[in-house]
Amino acid sequence: MDGNDMLLSPAGVDQLRTALTSAGYTSTGIADRLGPGATSGLARNDFRAALRATEERDPLATLIRLFVCAQTEPEEAVRAAFAPLPLAEALAGGLLERVGDGLRQGVDLEPYGDSWWVLSDVPASARPGQPLAADHVLGIGGATTTLVGATVRRPVGSALDLGTGSGVQALHLAEHARSVTATDVSDRSLRFAATNAALNGHTWELLKGDLVGPVAGRRFDLVVSNPPFVVGPGTTTHSYRDSGRVGDGIAAELAAAAPTLLTEGGTMQYLANWLHVAGEDWGERVAGWFAGTGLDAWVIQREVADPMAYVDLWLADASEAADPHRMAAWLDWFDAQKVEAVGFGVVNLRRGGHTDPVLRVEDLRQAVQPPMGEQIAAWFDRQDWLRARDGEALLATRFRAVDGLKLRQEASMGDEGWAVDRQVLVQSHGLRWSEEVDPLVLALVGGANGQVPLREQLGVLALAHDVPADDLAEAAGPIIAHLVERGVIAPVAD
Ligand SMILES: C[S@@+](CC[C@H](N)C(=O)[O-])C[C@H]1O[C@@H](n2cnc3c(N)ncnc32)[C@H](O)[C@@H]1O
Repeated sequence: MDGNDMLLSPAGVDQLRTALTSAGYTSTGIADRLGPGATSGLARNDFRAALRATEERDPLATLIRLFVCAQTEPEEAVRAAFAPLPLAEALAGGLLERVGDGLRQGVDLEPYGDSWWVLSDVPASARPGQPLAADHVLGIGGATTTLVGATVRRPVGSALDLGTGSGVQALHLAEHARSVTATDVSDRSLRFAATNAALNGHTWELLKGDLVGPVAGRRFDLVVSNPPFVVGPGTTTHSYRDSGRVGDGIAAELAAAAPTLLTEGGTMQYLANWLHVAGEDWGERVAGWFAGTGLDAWVIQREVADPMAYVDLWLADASEAADPHRMAAWLDWFDAQKVEAVGFGVVNLRRGGHTDPVLRVEDLRQAVQPPMGEQIAAWFDRQDWLRARDGEALLATRFRAVDGLKLRQEASMGDEGWAVDRQVLVQSHGLRWSEEVDPLVLALVGGANGQVPLREQLGVLALAHDVPADDLAEAAGPIIAHLVERGVIAPVAD
């Protein structure tokens, strides 16, 4: 198929946009029409109040009943709601299906953000008990929004979305990239992506093929991917979930592809699952994917699931929960590979052009302050700042402790009063890191008031503790670098 094949003709897409706009089928339009009570009911999949509020069957009401409440509606009301798009074209394009005398949704049609619509396949929740098609096209799911939030939103020339599905990532990329390329292995996904691009007034380059195959030899300033990251024996039943790669092979494959995919200074961000194998450090396993790539890498683990919960989740996601053989085969494979858990997270890579790239693999399961993309961009900025300074330059810098730091202390009462067992420094903003710290770190952070250069701060500390200033400066160097990297202290501009 051609990457520009759509569910509707180009004129039909324009007519659909006209219908949706004139009906006011937007997030705000729906919320205003339903009111707060019915809107909060939707979040609980309770459509009763929404159905009462839409009994009149004007175009907005009919669209809400069809696509939000998954109802079968009278043909005349649907015809009016879709006008000027002819009903015959909406039916031929699969947007609607006949059920008895009425019509119901054949796709999901969701207002998204302030001004977008996203067409995707009807989610499993709207068709209980019905198995998902092998080429089911996902709508806006939890993983989708995780990557949307984690993406660094800075202006770029070219952006690539690998495994675009309905094209949600590409919609966002189009806001800050001059050109957007999106790929997918599935014809159906590309058809939805092409329709969504046109419906939202965008022009993307859409290419069909396996992972980076369709863009071999090309480079991009920003690459994002929410790939079929689910780990297992390599069985493929659903293209949105299964890559066909054994274990966490797809994440390793994307890491290996990154150096030739990125322009100098380019960024690649993707979601991944990784195996926690008994007797192996999961962090070292993941770090191994980036050895020799020459890329700065920051891998953030956001969740960890045990094998049973993991398999349960993904079988239910594709309405396969009732298949005991599939579950057993998956769990047997985990057992054979000694998989104790599965990690989920975001891989952030940057082609910095350094021979000694930074590589961090971290567990960051706390609730971070959104949007995470800004925190990720700032982390790479801080790496650049550190890289540009040697020890002398650090000593000449005035640092300031960032706002919102807290110190939590645990102490035990002994014969001589309270004895401190543990002190934990907590950031109440941003990535909300917390870490156990020793008295030297506390003194460095506590004294970082932005007034004096680090050298003077260390001089005072050396006197107070009766240690040679040079020894203290040497010990403090890596600590300061770590505190800057985590954004605990920040340099004060002259
Ligand atoms: C999890 S969905 C992500 C969809 C969308 N990008 C999002 O963020 O919601 C994964 C997508 O990757 C596509 N895909 C699966 N295997 C692929 C492969 N080997 N190469 C390229 N795309 C693939 C699927 O068809 C699906 O559209």
